[in-house]
Amino acid sequence: MLFLSKGPYLQRPTEDSMTMMWETSDLASSSVEILLAERIHSGHQGNYKKPEVVIASVSNEERSTIHQLTVTGLEPGTMYFYTIHSANAKGEVQSGPYPFKTAVRRGEPFSFTVTGETGGYSSFDPSDGLTNINIFKQMQRYRPDLTLFVGDIVDNGDNYEDWEKYFFGPGADFLTTTPFYSCLGNHENNASWYYEFFDFSPPKNYYSFDYGDVHFICLDSTDFIKSEDYPLSAGEMSPGNEQYDFLIHDLQSTSAKWKIVFFHYPPFVSGGYQVEDLRQLCPLFEQYGVDLVFNSHTIVYERSHPLRAGKVDFQGGITYIVAGGAGAMPEWLLPKREWHTSQSLAVPHFLQVIVTVDHLELRAIDEEGRLFDKFTLRKDSDGSKSYF
Ligand SMILES: [Fe+2]
Repeated sequence: MLFLSKGPYLQRPTEDSMTMMWETSDLASSSVEILLAERIHSGHQGNYKKPEVVIASVSNEERSTIHQLTVTGLEPGTMYFYTIHSANAKGEVQSGPYPFKTAVRRGEPFSFTVTGETGGYSSFDPSDGLTNINIFKQMQRYRPDLTLFVGDIVDNGDNYEDWEKYFFGPGADFLTTTPFYSCLGNHENNASWYYEFFDFSPPKNYYSFDYGDVHFICLDSTDFIKSEDYPLSAGEMSPGNEQYDFLIHDLQSTSAKWKIVFFHYPPFVSGGYQVEDLRQLCPLFEQYGVDLVFNSHTIVYERSHPLRAGKVDFQGGITYIVAGGAGAMPEWLLPKREWHTSQSLAVPHFLQVIVTVDHLELRAIDEEGRLFDKFTLRKDSDGSKSYF
């Protein structure tokens, strides 16, 4: 018997394409069908008919257990439905239809969510609570266009079972309809499963992509900082290092209105697990106009003041946000505030970020759907920023 062991889930949203991935219990073929749902307008209500009109399909007869197919030729910012299908001599599986939306064009508003630590921390036992399930459910209520995970999405990335237990299982419904990106946390162990399950741009541990008016850059802080036991190896964060050179080149190449960087270890967080060595990247972020930085590792919510040159600077500083909210919350992680701390709270949470042309609005929401922090960044056409 053939069955679905993961997914389907969505990867690499672009204006005209989407990638579908899933895993089957045995080697099998892969195919995806794209369907349209007819919109019905009756009286004052609008609704969709059951999606039945197939407008595109893509298939691969070559058998695999991890399946990956990209559908192209789609319209920007448009909702479609998809169904996946795999077959071999033992049987066949089908799943869908599920809705998805292609990436919006530049200049069009969109929203995304951010969280991390679905793997909890090393002593986290999912039977003790349902934090990651609750966070996935809450994020789904906000119907984001995409979502970012800031690492430690599993407890031990080398354990195949962990990927279902902590990530694909609790997130199944959400990941079926919401394309996502993730960075490597230390708990992923740079394991081969990360590279097999995800379709990010090579080399996958760091990459960048555009969505609407935002240029997103994912970094691998576990490569910059090989271990939590310092000191930092010489030359890790300076020209000549491949990832550092990628970062400079990438920041120089983008003309996007907003620049958002995400990686696991937090350069600014009060309490445990701050990794100050990563502040060596801040001059680059400042030089090239990065707007926001997302981190996790510390299993808390924390938002910094706008920071520039090691000081609070409301004239153009960068806001650093720790969003380690989808795991258990040890109270000992927040002993005292630091000078860079604006807001800090140790509660399970996720972020919702709403992007419009001139404004970027960030909301922190707990596992019961309550808003507990909010800030807005405005950027005028001359590049000047204001925070409120
Ligand atoms: Fe971590």
